[in-house]
Amino acid sequence: MEAQSRPRLNTLVIAAALTMFLMQQGCFSYARLLGAGAKTRFSTTEFIKVSCSKTSYPTLCFNSLSRHASLIQTSPVLLAGAALNVTLDAALSTSTMMHKLSKTHGMTPREVGAMKDCVEELSDSVDELRKSIDEMGQLRRKPPNLGLLLNDIQTWVSAALTDETTCSDGFAGKVMNGNVKIAVRSQIVTIAHLTSNALALVNKLASILV
Ligand SMILES: *[C@@H]1O[C@H](CO)[C@@H](O)[C@H](O)[C@H]1NC(C)=O
Repeated sequence: MEAQSRPRLNTLVIAAALTMFLMQQGCFSYARLLGAGAKTRFSTTEFIKVSCSKTSYPTLCFNSLSRHASLIQTSPVLLAGAALNVTLDAALSTSTMMHKLSKTHGMTPREVGAMKDCVEELSDSVDELRKSIDEMGQLRRKPPNLGLLLNDIQTWVSAALTDETTCSDGFAGKVMNGNVKIAVRSQIVTIAHLTSNALALVNKLASILV
């Protein structure tokens, strides 16, 4: 009996000492978790992570949205809105890049043709994303036609995704300088992934609100 309880007692003493040490180091500091600023920041990041885990590209989702955490807080409406905004920004900068590339890169007429088709599809997707973002703005105050509005947004975002996919598929088949093709196509694929994630967040929003 004596011989058995002694090691257990030692274990307890070590555990208690370790706990006190860790508490001194602030590892169990609940104040840190419950403090207003800290709590908001913590729960916002968690909220974005959990929401993103249900999209098709969770890492891209989290990396693109976590920097907008203070704006998003824990609002599914702001989260979906920020996802659409991030997607639009990416589509705009790729579109600008492609436009420049098609003029300056000494491309063959066929290559320029392929690039132009893609720029056009990307420009359609930019318009569709803009329309969906406009309608997202109306969600700030609960509108009477909520279901219809969300349905519209889903339609616009799906259309944007289709245009981006057409662009990247078309691009893959065309004769084009290897490096340019790879660089441009990978950007378009990223935009399509961002759009797919935004659509998943909009769909989730619809499932909560309607
Ligand atoms: C998205 O962009 C629109 C237009 O610039 C802006 O009004 C809105 O606040 C942004 N929404 C989010 C959630 O960032």
